[in-house]
Amino acid sequence: MAKLKVLVTGGAGFIGSHLVPALVRTGHQVRVLDPLSPQIHGDLPGDMPWLTGENVEFRRGSVLDDNDLKASVTGVDAIVHLAAETGTGQSMYEISRYNEVNTLGTAKLLDHIANDPERTVRHIALASSRSVYGEGAYVCTHCSPTERVCPEARKAEDLAASCWEPLCTACGAGLTAVPTRETDRINPASIYAATKYAQEDLVRIACSSIGIRHSILRLQNVYGEGQSLKNPYTGILSIFSTRIRRGLDLPIFEDGLETRDFVHVDDVANAFVAALSAQATQHSVFNVGSGIATPVIDVARMLNSSFKGSSNIVVTGEYRIGDIRHNSADIVALTDDLGYKPSIDLQTGLDRFADWVQGQPLPEDLLEKANAELRDRNLMGQNSG
Ligand SMILES: NC(=O)c1ccc[n+]([C@@H]2O[C@H](COP(=O)([O-])OP(=O)(O)OC[C@H]3O[C@@H](n4cnc5c(N)ncnc54)[C@H](O)[C@@H]3O)[C@@H](O)[C@H]2O)c1
Repeated sequence: MAKLKVLVTGGAGFIGSHLVPALVRTGHQVRVLDPLSPQIHGDLPGDMPWLTGENVEFRRGSVLDDNDLKASVTGVDAIVHLAAETGTGQSMYEISRYNEVNTLGTAKLLDHIANDPERTVRHIALASSRSVYGEGAYVCTHCSPTERVCPEARKAEDLAASCWEPLCTACGAGLTAVPTRETDRINPASIYAATKYAQEDLVRIACSSIGIRHSILRLQNVYGEGQSLKNPYTGILSIFSTRIRRGLDLPIFEDGLETRDFVHVDDVANAFVAALSAQATQHSVFNVGSGIATPVIDVARMLNSSFKGSSNIVVTGEYRIGDIRHNSADIVALTDDLGYKPSIDLQTGLDRFADWVQGQPLPEDLLEKANAELRDRNLMGQNSG
């Protein structure tokens, strides 16, 4: 396999902390561009050993800055674009900041590549998100067990009445979730999701016009060692880990039976390495997940057991506007076309995560603060009974 020089934007973050070492292990040279955003890294960022090793160059700077971009893009063969603001709830009231970093940041990166007379970049891999699908795919077992339907976002009044499951618009029965395919309807339900889809469009269109390859990896719920424990706006497992260590209750939204597809960060890093290594692929968009839907209440129990914790799991009946009910990825394109299959099962991954967390300073629990911001803006509600 060709040895590449790879720029990883946002490579100081969670996924970058696994991707950079994975690229170096595979023989690539890596350059990282990251401003060490205080929301993610705190005011005094800790040690980041993956940014100082052999074959890694680190530049503290932003994709929004022309000088940083010029210095970072020069001479690289490929780019993995991870840089982003990632809090779904927060994106609903920090709309311009999310658009600036995610959308304008991607546009500036592409502008630089498009206008570089000495361009060396041949491939851009983008970290997109399963959030672009909104609710994703379901079937109505009453009407047709094979016809895929992609329901609209659930209404606030239905959530207030504890009608958690999306309903069939034809017969009114509850729909059954099925793994979402890359070809299913795109229907972002948050500003964050809208910016991730804008990134996809920008990358797809600009790369086709410039004549370079692109790969879009739609990541499911990524978890694992290195996840920010300081950011209360994203990462349910980090937030719960702090509460378990503090002996606090684990509040579960809705009825706890909403599902997510949890994928370990090492599996995600390896999927990016596979995308960069693949010679020719049939697809350019890939779901990256375990393919398994796990109820949120189950993952809370499993995490409690990984920590040998005794937190009470409390189903609160609260809900967030814009949250989806169920999600899991169809990973046929990932396995068949990229030749990569995630291999870390959830309990093993959670045990690894818990071991790592125990060695970290105990952060403040900021969940209530983040939820209060949502309640103040009517983005969070409580069921009526
Ligand atoms: N973690 C997940 O569950 C998940 C799921 C789906 C998609 N993604 C996507 O994967 C990517 C990486 O996510 P992560 O979990 O590692 O997030 P993270 O917040 O840990 O890391 C993001 C990094 O981007 C950096 N950054 C912020 N603004 C920047 C700028 N202007 N220029 C350069 N870098 C900047 C931050 O300092 C941070 O180090 C993001 O694009 C995110 O949308 C993540």
